[in-house]
Amino acid sequence: MKINLNDFEKSKILVIGDIMLDCYLWGKVERISPEAPVPIVQSLKRTYMLGGAGNVALNLASLGCQTDIMAICGDDGAGGQLKEMLEANQITSHLIFDDAHLTISKTRIMALEQQLLRIDEERIHALSYDLKEAVLSKIKSIINRYQAVILSDYGKGFLKTPEITESIISLCREIKISVLVDPKGKDWERYQHATCVTPNSAELNIVADEVIETEQELIETSERIRNQYQLDWLLVTRGAKGMCLTGRYNSKEKNTNSYYKDNFGKKEHQNQTPLLIPTQARQVYDVSGAGDTVIAVLAAGISIGLSFEDAAAVANKAAGVVVGKLGTQPITKDELKEVLMN
Ligand SMILES: Nc1ncnc2c1ncn2[C@@H]1O[C@H](COP(=O)(O)OP(=O)(O)OP(=O)(O)O)[C@@H](O)[C@H]1O
Ligand SMILES: [Mg+2]
Repeated sequence: MKINLNDFEKSKILVIGDIMLDCYLWGKVERISPEAPVPIVQSLKRTYMLGGAGNVALNLASLGCQTDIMAICGDDGAGGQLKEMLEANQITSHLIFDDAHLTISKTRIMALEQQLLRIDEERIHALSYDLKEAVLSKIKSIINRYQAVILSDYGKGFLKTPEITESIISLCREIKISVLVDPKGKDWERYQHATCVTPNSAELNIVADEVIETEQELIETSERIRNQYQLDWLLVTRGAKGMCLTGRYNSKEKNTNSYYKDNFGKKEHQNQTPLLIPTQARQVYDVSGAGDTVIAVLAAGISIGLSFEDAAAVANKAAGVVVGKLGTQPITKDELKEVLMN
């Protein structure tokens, strides 16, 4: 595989989905409250991280891709905070601030090097007709700029709205750009015709409504689900076991997707799927965020002309790096370079 990581600078990728503010309140505990049998945390500092779709965008930006994000926030302090953080990380934001929404945030109270409590703020409700129209017209006006679109669905309402997700996928198909989905839940109708969906094993079990035990069963079920929802590719992430990629592409089959369009006829694509990609055993600190890194690197990889097989292999290595980091942290270009040399 030939890969020049500096090519990421030319990639333009749009992330659409549920953005969240991850807040950490760090403190120390020296006594128990006289009011109730609970520790008193004396607050020392607060730190913030981009969560959900924001973390996918952060992974892209830290690889050097030109990254945009489109999401719905509340018209509140957390929404303003997210906007500032996106700007500080060179991510162009197309946020819609909606009165009826509350910006999703998760606040962890940390003391004695552990989490004492997590406070979530979110309000999940259906999008109004006007908001749906506003979102879709915004997306239509910018979508031509990108080589790939990532739908980061955390099930918080935005991409759960079938008209939104279906319209984005059909727009991408129309203008021949790849659309990759990190899915949530059992109902995948809205992801039909996506270029690629990236469930983890548990998410595949749920949508397939079966318990998958052997690798043979995994491949068969992947093929069944891929066919059922007419996906070009299905990438199942399997935690420490790595990944399973299935795809419908072979060099005889013409396709509307930009990846195929760019590669069709140029070089003979050797279809290598089904493909099981193992991980190298690693010291794992924190698996959270690994799925975000996978979909970011996959999109970045195909946007610079890698095959899906190669992009998945690179994403697998990148995810192996982030699970070795404490907390949710993105992959950097230098880390990716290093892990690709080994
Ligand atoms: N123990 C591990 N060693 C090496 N790589 C790992 C390990 N666990 C996960 N990975 C890498 O991370 C990828 C994604 O992991 P996983 O299947 O757990 O995703 P996920 O459940 O979507 O994660 P998330 O918590 O971010 O939603 C795997 O396909 C693999 O490449
Ligand atoms: Mg995931």
